[in-house]
Amino acid sequence: MQKKEYIQKMFAGISHRYDLLNHLLSLGRDRYWRRFAVAKLPSGQILDVCSGTGDVAIEASKKSQVIASDFCDEMLKLCALKIKKQNIGSIYCVRNDAEALSFKEETFDGAIVAFGIRNVADIKKALSEMSRVVKKGGKVVILEFSRPENKVFKSVYYFYFQRILPLIGAFISKKKGAYNYLPSSVMAFPERNEFVELMKSSGMKDIEYYNLTFGIVTVYAGVKGIANN
Ligand SMILES: C[S@@+](CC[C@H](N)C(=O)[O-])C[C@H]1O[C@@H](n2cnc3c(N)ncnc32)[C@H](O)[C@@H]1O
Repeated sequence: MQKKEYIQKMFAGISHRYDLLNHLLSLGRDRYWRRFAVAKLPSGQILDVCSGTGDVAIEASKKSQVIASDFCDEMLKLCALKIKKQNIGSIYCVRNDAEALSFKEETFDGAIVAFGIRNVADIKKALSEMSRVVKKGGKVVILEFSRPENKVFKSVYYFYFQRILPLIGAFISKKKGAYNYLPSSVMAFPERNEFVELMKSSGMKDIEYYNLTFGIVTVYAGVKGIANN
């Protein structure tokens, strides 16, 4: 099975427990991480890529018009339901592949992806797509898990992340694979400096990054440059 198909099926399978597990496994820190990342965006027209159940889109909708996009119908349905329940009029949900966005060049003031870029088959392609659809001078923001640097914290955290988290995830979601995939995909993700280079080669400049919660996650923010490479 191709990575894309595997990821789509995996998220479809855990969609009903996705929010609960997010908040539980991060001890509620995920809300702060998303708020921090969204605060790096300008206001205006925003694209949320790999939107999942829409928490980033909802946060961004407080000051912007947002398109929430994802390629997993089950996640998108939950996103639409949440938006309806909260009576939010400024978000539109659209089925879209992060590696082949269906929007024209320079449509958005900003684009964001939270915990999604790690899952795409071709990271550079997805970053280039985000850069392509953002206006020159607009912002591209990425929130993703990362590997903490402090040795003592790292050993405690890895015990939780690689041993305990998969057990809780499997027990609650009733799916074994997804919460084994999470730590292994984080371990395989590029180092911060390598990721910054990927952003640069995808058309972004003035890139800054912020380590949050001992470096468990990192927020990257870049400005759309003159031309995509
Ligand atoms: C870990 S969830 C993140 C959801 C949300 N952004 C959040 O902050 O919780 C990853 C999401 O990325 C989506 N996804 C993965 N690869 C994708 C792709 N190539 N195109 C569009 N969506 C994708 C999955 O369907 C899933 O909903």
